[in-house]
Amino acid sequence: MLERYEESQTSNTDKYNNIFDITHHDVHLQNLPSSLIGKRIVQISDLHRRHDIPDCILESAVEYINAVQPDYVALTGDFINSSPRNIQPVLNILSHIHVKGDVFAVMGNHDYPHGRGVLPEGMRKLGFQVLMNESVRIGNGLWFAGVDDLLKSSCDPEKALHNIPLNEPVVMLAHNPDIVKHIKLDHNMLVLSGHTHGGQYNLPILTPELICLIHLRTRLIHGWYHVRNMQLYVNRGIGVSGVWFLAKRYKCDPEITEYTLLP
Ligand SMILES: [Fe+2]
Repeated sequence: MLERYEESQTSNTDKYNNIFDITHHDVHLQNLPSSLIGKRIVQISDLHRRHDIPDCILESAVEYINAVQPDYVALTGDFINSSPRNIQPVLNILSHIHVKGDVFAVMGNHDYPHGRGVLPEGMRKLGFQVLMNESVRIGNGLWFAGVDDLLKSSCDPEKALHNIPLNEPVVMLAHNPDIVKHIKLDHNMLVLSGHTHGGQYNLPILTPELICLIHLRTRLIHGWYHVRNMQLYVNRGIGVSGVWFLAKRYKCDPEITEYTLLP
């Protein structure tokens, strides 16, 4: 029966491998409560809903989440590509997320100046937990924390972490990966970020490293980084930014990440 279930789940999700780079990661967190061992988080980031690009890829990301039924969903900002007319359409897309567990969200730089108004309020009405320099405790001692955007808002990691004991593990949602430079406390932490789009282009001379350094002034581009007690993952995101002729990806696929929590 179990095998049949696994087979059907695989066939149900195979088609998404043609759309996204779906990466799976085991994450070890000290003092993870035994009741949370094996719990799964799916992260999607940087949807950048925009009127000049069809919604099908964003809808596919939501379909994937529903197909794999993670225990938690992490949405790490840049839901819209700046214009407020994209807010209701992206809320409509996100309203189709149907999972048993919690959905956590933080705002990104493209979400402002709407990141403190209609957009987060709309998400809260969907039942999402929008974390603005705050944290919530799950089960017997895992925390989900989130910060406002580093560039466009009042990002305050100390406020987000202030009530968390140093010996309890934290999953921090932060749109901008450079947040790790601003976290002073030594929590045992998984940090989930986006923002860079992995460079969006992967060209021989105009490399992701050069694009991110010039455009975003960061060397945290994609994948895993380890900073003190922090394990940072930078997700390449789903959507694209830039004016219409630059609004595409080249050898830099959209990404969905899945994390399995282990002690
Ligand atoms: Fe973005």
